[in-house]
This record gives sequence, C-alpha cells and structure tokens, in this order.
Amino acid sequence: MTALLEVAGISKRFGGVTAVRDVSFSVAAGQIVGLMGANGAGKTTLFNLISGSFSPDSGRVLLDGREIQGQAPHRICRQGIGRTYQIVRPFPNLTVRENVAVGLIFGAGRHGRADLRQREDEILEETGLHSLAGQRAAELTLAGRKRLELARALATSPRLLMLDEVMAGLTPAEAGRALEMLQSIHARRGLAILVVEHNLRAMMQLCSRVVVLHHGEKIGQGTPEAITRDPAVIAAYLGAA
Ligand SMILES: Nc1ncnc2c1ncn2[C@@H]1O[C@H](COP(=O)(O)OP(=O)(O)O)[C@@H](O)[C@H]1O
Ligand SMILES: [Mg+2]
Repeated sequence: MTALLEVAGISKRFGGVTAVRDVSFSVAAGQIVGLMGANGAGKTTLFNLISGSFSPDSGRVLLDGREIQGQAPHRICRQGIGRTYQIVRPFPNLTVRENVAVGLIFGAGRHGRADLRQREDEILEETGLHSLAGQRAAELTLAGRKRLELARALATSPRLLMLDEVMAGLTPAEAGRALEMLQSIHARRGLAILVVEHNLRAMMQLCSRVVVLHHGEKIGQGTPEAITRDPAVIAAYLGAA
C-alpha cells in the first residue's frame, strides 16, 4: 500500500551545516508519528522541507506516491498537508474567527460562503476557542495562540497535520488539555499527524511510531517503548550512556 507521506533520502545544507542528512521515513493514512531529537537536530527543517518552505538539496517527498518536493507551500497545503509553526504566526490584527476563515479559504477544502460560518464554528469548538472568537489574535495568551495555530492548520482540511512543538511553554495542565484535544481531533477526523514535541509523556501517549533525529540524521525508529530502550537513542538524545 502507498504511504500517505513518504520522505526518501532527503538532505538540506545551510552553508557548512548539514541540517538534514539522507533522512527517510513514511507516515500511513491516519497514523500518528512522532519526530524526536534535541534542539538543532533538524526537526523544523524537515517540516520546512515537507511543507515546501525549503527545497531539498537531494531526496524526494511523496504524497500519495506523487512527488511534491520543491513545490510552493500553498500548493502543498492545498494537496492536504497542514502545519503549525514553532514560532506561532497568526495574523495579529485579525480576530480568532477571521484567522480560522483565512485557513478555510486558502486550504484544501472547498467551502461555499454559506457553510464557511459553520465550518469556522466547528473548528473553534474543536480547539476550545469558541468563547474567544471575537478577540484579536494579538490579545491571546501563549496557550491561546498555540490553539489558534492548531485551528488555522485544521482549517486547511489536512490529511496530514504537522505539529511543531504546540505544547512548548504550556503549563502541565494546559499541556494535558492540548493532549486530550489532539487525541479527540485525531479520533474524530482520522487524519495522519506528524508531531514534534519535547514532552515525552505526550509523545508516548500520542504516537504509534517515533522517528529519532540526531545532528540531522535518523538514528532510530520504532514504537515509543522500543525507542526509549534503544541504546543509540539513549546515548544521543536522552544523554545517558
Ligand atoms: N534558515 C536557516 N538558515 C541557516 N541555518 C539553519 C536554518 N534553519 C535551520 N538551520 C540550522 O539547521 C540545524 C537544524 O535546525 P532545526 O531544524 O531548527 O532543528 P530543530 O527544529 O530540531 O531544533 C541547526 O544547526 C540550525 O542552526
Ligand atoms: Mg524546531
């Protein structure tokens, strides 16, 4: 069976730094895969290569078996890959609802004017933002901005949702709510998720499989349980030998 997403031997250099080196992995439809690695391991660069923000120096990215590497981000988004940004970037002067509407209009879904409002309501409900719909994005707390980042990505109707540290900076209670939110969104929509998160507990609960990067290279993959027992992963990432 063709994977929803296949990353095949992808590399990206920035000057003398090889941020991602010959990385391959795949994500099946509906699967949740985690991407782990210390700061600077290449996780965000890999997201940028998949979502079209960067072109790879070599290697391929396939969506439903078709090559998409090097295409513009909006074209990749319309084919069903939605993402959040580690540094959140909603339109600060638009309201929460307007930010969601932008995602609906520019994403993969086809919505008439009539059902736009209803789709906005659904996404605001799913992400717990309904009571904040009229607020300007700039007025939100960090937790609120992270949820809006998720709402904007969901609004593009992704089949693959890529989440870059949506729990970073949240309190344990907020992170717990974010985890439940992601689990219920996954259960309801059945979409595939590629998730970067430093919160190990959240990764264990969310992911059926984890890929580990170290200095831009893939050093392991497996179930979260197996990965946390893998000596190479422990040495490189968890810092113990
Ligand atoms: N736009 C860029 N220009 C130059 N170097 C970059 C750029 N983006 C990332 N890097 C470098 O690539 C490496 C991987 O970074 P990144 O993908 O952000 O790691 P992670 O998200 O795992 O923390 C780092 O050495 C970083 O400095
Ligand atoms: Mg990063």
